[in-house]
Amino acid sequence: MTAQPLMLKGVSRSVLDSGQEKRTLAQLDRLFAPGKFHVVNGPSGAGKTTLLSLLALAVPPSRGMLHWGSVNLTGLKPPAAAAWRKTNLGMIFQTSRLVSVMTAFENVCFGGAIRGQRVEAEAHRLLEGFGLGAKKANLPAQLSGGEKQRVAIAQALACRPTLLLADEPTASLDAANAAFVADTLKAYAVANAATVICVSHDRTVIDAADDLLTLERP
Ligand SMILES: Nc1ncnc2c1ncn2[C@@H]1O[C@H](COP(=O)(O)OP(=O)(O)OP(=O)(O)O)[C@@H](O)[C@H]1O
Ligand SMILES: [Mg+2]
Repeated sequence: MTAQPLMLKGVSRSVLDSGQEKRTLAQLDRLFAPGKFHVVNGPSGAGKTTLLSLLALAVPPSRGMLHWGSVNLTGLKPPAAAAWRKTNLGMIFQTSRLVSVMTAFENVCFGGAIRGQRVEAEAHRLLEGFGLGAKKANLPAQLSGGEKQRVAIAQALACRPTLLLADEPTASLDAANAAFVADTLKAYAVANAATVICVSHDRTVIDAADDLLTLERP
C-alpha cells in the first residue's frame, strides 16, 4: 500500500469526566505527509497520546474529520476501520510489549502472523541490521531494555506499515539507543515513503524531525 497524506480538519476530543465535559485534545488542523518524520511534543496532559489514539482509529474525534488521502477515516464502520489498520498501521510504545514466551525472532514474526503476512525474511534482515543477529533466539527476559525496544521496532517495521505511530519510544533508553531509534524511524519514513509520527520529549528525536508539532494543554 502507498501512504496517503493524513489530514486533520478541526479535530478535537472531549470525554465525560465525573459528569463534566473535559477536553483531552484542543482543536487541531494538520497535515502529516508521507516520507516525513513527524515529531509531536508538549507538556504532560496536552493530548499527545490522545492524538495517537485518534490516528489509530482507537477512539473517534468529538469534532472534526480525519482523511487518509480521499478516504474519510472518521466515517469508516468498525470492520472497515479494522481493515485499514491491518493494512496500514504500525505502533511502537514507550516500553516494548513483547510476548515473554516467544523468542526475539518469533516476536518479530508474530506481528506479521496476526495480519496474515509472512515476514520471516524481513525479520531476519531487520534483526541483523539492528545488531541482534546473535540474539534472535533469546527470550525478552534475556534482552536489555534497548534490545527489547529494537525487537519491538523490528516487529512494527516487518509488516511495512504506511503509517507508523510511536508513543515516547525512547523514554526508557540511554542516549545511544535513543539516537538509534530516531535514526531508524526517520530512515524508515524516507526509504518507504511512509508517514511516521513520533511523540517524544527527547532532544535527539526532536532534532531529527522533519516537522515538529507542539501541543498545548487544552
Ligand atoms: N478517558 C479519559 N477520561 C478522563 N480524562 C482523560 C481520559 N483520557 C485522557 N484524559 C485526560 O486528557 C488529557 C490528555 O491526556 P493524554 O494521555 O493524551 O496526554 P499526554 O499529552 O499523552 O500526556 P503524557 O505526556 O503525560 O503522556 C489528560 O489531562 C488526561 O488526564
Ligand atoms: Mg502520553
